Amino acid sequence: MITIQERSLVNEIASIVRDACARETNIFGYGMWTHHIMEVVRYSRVLARLCGADEEIVVLAALLHDYAAVKDEALYADHHVHGPREAEKLLMSLGYPPERIEAVKHCIAAHRASVPTRRQTLEAQCLADADAMAHIAQVPSLMRMVFVERGLGIDEGTRWVRAKLERSWKKLSPLAQEMMRDKYCAVLKTLNCDLDAA
Ligand SMILES: [Fe+2]
Ligand SMILES: [Fe+2]
Repeated sequence: MITIQERSLVNEIASIVRDACARETNIFGYGMWTHHIMEVVRYSRVLARLCGADEEIVVLAALLHDYAAVKDEALYADHHVHGPREAEKLLMSLGYPPERIEAVKHCIAAHRASVPTRRQTLEAQCLADADAMAHIAQVPSLMRMVFVERGLGIDEGTRWVRAKLERSWKKLSPLAQEMMRDKYCAVLKTLNCDLDAA
């Protein structure tokens, strides 16, 4: 359970990240907030409660996990490296305890499916799961990324989305796979049919 003080810290970080998502410099668009980060936060809470992880750590990490990429497009490629530094700066300025900052930083550093990093805590596994679950649950936002931001054609874009979803699926813990199995199978079937018909 998150206490009232913890809630105001979470709200403060949420409004900082939301504002960053609303800026024109955010190449992912405001949907990054509404269709990705908020979704990651939602799954993070569910998983933290199910696994007995520290909910506040997981939620703060969920809010901040893509923050570096949102702030500066040039940081996207290594946002798992820049993200922990950005999180540290923000959380330190709000007086968050150093050992808890380290826990948030580890979650962010280890969240990506494409960058194999050992997840050393329950909280890091919850964030990695929640990030991948959000991709599976919000396929239209991946479609926007490939067709609008990257300007890919239908087949190329579909292959990209399918590969991303397959990476996300492989990253999931057995518990998270169980929670997402129906959605994942339905999405994959649709994407495969599109490719087969092409
Ligand atoms: Fe990310
Ligand atoms: Fe993410």
